[in-house]
Amino acid sequence: MEHLGLNEIRERYLKFFESKQHLRLPSFSLIPENDKTLLLIPAGMAPLKSYFTGEQTPPAPRITTCQKCIHTNDIENVGFTARHLTFFEMLGNFSFGDYFKLEAIAWAWEFVTQVLEMPEDRLYVSVYEKDDEAMEIWTKNVGVAPDHMFRMGKADNFWEIGTGVGPCGPCSEIYFDRGEQYACGPDCHPGCDCDRFVEFWNLVFTQFENDGHDNYLPLAKKNIDTGMGLERIACIMQEVGSLFEVDTMTAITQRVCEMAGVERGHDPKTEISLRIITDHIRATVMLVCDGVHPSNEGRGYILRRLLRRAARHGRLLGIRSGFLTELADTVFEISGKAYPQIIEKSDYIRRVIRLEEERFDKTIDAGLKLLSEHIDEMKASGKTVMDGAEAFKLYDTFGFPVDLTVEILGEQDFTLDREAFERCMNEQRDRARDARKKHALGWGSDDAGALKQLPETVFTGYTSCTGTGKVLAILSGGETREGVGMDEEATLLLDSTTFYAESGGQIGDTGVIECDTGSFRVTDVTKTPDHKFLHSGVVTRGTLSVGDSVRTLVDEPRRQAISRAHCAAHLLQAALRLVLGTHVEQAGSLVEPDRVRFDFTHFAALTDDEKAKVEALVNEEILKALSGSMTEMPTDEAKKLGAIALFGEKYGKTVRVVRYGDYSCELCGGTHIDNTAKVGLFRIVGEGSVAAGVRRVEGVTGLGVLELLKTREDTIARTAMALKTSVSEVEHAAEIMAATVREQKQTIDGLSGKIARAEVEGLLKSAKAVGGVKLISAKVNADLERMRTMCDILRDIDTTVVVMFGAVADGKVQLSCACGADAVKMGAHAGKLVKAAAAIVGGGGGGRPDSASAGGRNPEKLDEALASVEANLAAMLK
Ligand code: ALA
Repeated sequence: MEHLGLNEIRERYLKFFESKQHLRLPSFSLIPENDKTLLLIPAGMAPLKSYFTGEQTPPAPRITTCQKCIHTNDIENVGFTARHLTFFEMLGNFSFGDYFKLEAIAWAWEFVTQVLEMPEDRLYVSVYEKDDEAMEIWTKNVGVAPDHMFRMGKADNFWEIGTGVGPCGPCSEIYFDRGEQYACGPDCHPGCDCDRFVEFWNLVFTQFENDGHDNYLPLAKKNIDTGMGLERIACIMQEVGSLFEVDTMTAITQRVCEMAGVERGHDPKTEISLRIITDHIRATVMLVCDGVHPSNEGRGYILRRLLRRAARHGRLLGIRSGFLTELADTVFEISGKAYPQIIEKSDYIRRVIRLEEERFDKTIDAGLKLLSEHIDEMKASGKTVMDGAEAFKLYDTFGFPVDLTVEILGEQDFTLDREAFERCMNEQRDRARDARKKHALGWGSDDAGALKQLPETVFTGYTSCTGTGKVLAILSGGETREGVGMDEEATLLLDSTTFYAESGGQIGDTGVIECDTGSFRVTDVTKTPDHKFLHSGVVTRGTLSVGDSVRTLVDEPRRQAISRAHCAAHLLQAALRLVLGTHVEQAGSLVEPDRVRFDFTHFAALTDDEKAKVEALVNEEILKALSGSMTEMPTDEAKKLGAIALFGEKYGKTVRVVRYGDYSCELCGGTHIDNTAKVGLFRIVGEGSVAAGVRRVEGVTGLGVLELLKTREDTIARTAMALKTSVSEVEHAAEIMAATVREQKQTIDGLSGKIARAEVEGLLKSAKAVGGVKLISAKVNADLERMRTMCDILRDIDTTVVVMFGAVADGKVQLSCACGADAVKMGAHAGKLVKAAAAIVGGGGGGRPDSASAGGRNPEKLDEALASVEANLAAMLK
């Protein structure tokens, strides 16, 4: 077995699979594209997921790559073992519905035994316990000795991506026996956790897709996904004891040793620091190259954590600060050929690392000192758990990623009250959010100071939607940043912009800020009191950094729609003054795409006639196609022109005057169209009151009117459909329907009367003689209205009747009582009877002697209440 270098192994692998008709693709970025389930790429197949599922068609049915990968779940272990790395490279060959198990297995065997010339007797293979097919191929077709084959369960031989979402399947793994000297005991076997049998190649027979809920859906086509850790195979080939002794790794470690003036293999602590730095600088270079920037969240936090952890171990080795920047050069040397991008971007990568090192440099010593003092105090007081607030201070003031604090504590057997720390973090987030709401600026006071120095933003967007500018500052996660990468939310400050910042009622522009290295989607633009424009949004491609020259591309159709609405607002104000009087003053406004809300001083609701007049006037001016002029002039001059100003607003020495013919003249900083005709059409959609003496008119313009028409037409069409008629007949059909309903109601009323009468006659027959009157006291199934009707009918039919009805609806009782004229003369009193009955059902009520009603809360007492009427009535009859 030849001791091949890592770079040589990579090349041999890719060439081998090219010879098997695979398309060789360069490594994909570490930042997943269009995949929100992953923070960073953890395996060779991850960027190819959509090819496996069939969502997208691959450029070839067979592909081979060497993919940059990052594992972040156990960063704290890196350095302490021989086999943990954060960054590593994964060799892989993939089939998308093309070849399957037979070829995948045969080629794997050919590569390891013939290209790498691994001795067969040192190779072992595992298969999934139920995969007889694979077992057969390995033993029969390929000829692996049966005593070198192992069956293993799902835990070992069924491969899924860490998140559990995506393509997966049973797998076969190839192991290399490094010799008895590495064995953990006489029972040592492939698959055991020690260092003797090293698993180095995983062949996954990808035939399922896990939907994220452990439902394994069969994929339409069977695929192959294999993965071989490059550093690990290099470690085997070079017959060295750990991944950190592989040639390319050693090159870095060696350089660190020179910088620190230490030697390898003497002190275990030094060894740990060397490994940490070696691993982390590789990950750092690759992450920065792919557009990750150090920050406190997501990918940026991982990078920051790696960089700062490495920086601290540099301190432990006694290396001067800034060494990571220098060490990056060694990574460029060893990996630049395989990854030319790191050479192309080397200046940039150095700059990002240097700035982060410098940032941490300022506080690391003070922070470490504070931490060690605190540890001493804990020792003295017998405490073993550090306060969350202390860790938060280290994080907030000294820039210590909390995991670094935890790690340092762990070195001396202390722990952290993590929950309390998270509480402090959340409180700070809330504070920051509130601060953002209060002031446009959401950054810490130090940063705000730095930003004050920046020049005002020059707005160049009145005449054009596209322009250029330079990034002067970037804010993200509450701090100033050198750059931002994919998916990060941020605020950009430019020296010059075409984006309008929200002001004077007009909302901010949206659009894109881009340069060659990245794109930023602007979702909102605001302005600081000192006239700096804050472009808020998210990075959608690559990276943006301070100093970048960018193009500012405002969403032009949207801007046009806003400008139309703004023009309409001016025409509306003029029209209101003409129709209602010059007491009309603007009290507020909101101008959005094709939508305007205008508040003004006026004492009464607009009549339909006034609304129609205002709307007609605005449209007349639109159709006159008045050209607009926007001119800067001294405030005095503007006043002389009679320009309308906002009441109570302070204006500078010069102002911007916006005029449309002689019709409208206002002081205004908003964006406008150059001709009223471009408003298209104006339609009032709402009028109402905002406060005493302030009215509001809402209107739509341009395409907004079209949309309004469309919505209304749709409503009419749907109405016609519901009435089973055509649009042209809809009015007629509605009239007929209303008339039919009226007629039917009359019929129904008549019928109900008849039914009631029949019921009533039945009731009369059952009446009980009490004194000289006939008492009907009954529970009925009717609402109050109907009970009253029945009472009235009974009273009309027989003047000696006393009737009490009770009904239950929605858990409540209703009572209705009536006494005929003669019954009243004899002393019966409906009001008193109902009052007494209501008292029993937990309610009250009353009324006239001849008619009364009441309610109650206890339906279960209704029978009792109705039964009580007889005695009460008897008592009141003379
Ligand atoms: N996707 C498989 C792995 O990462 C090959 O091990």
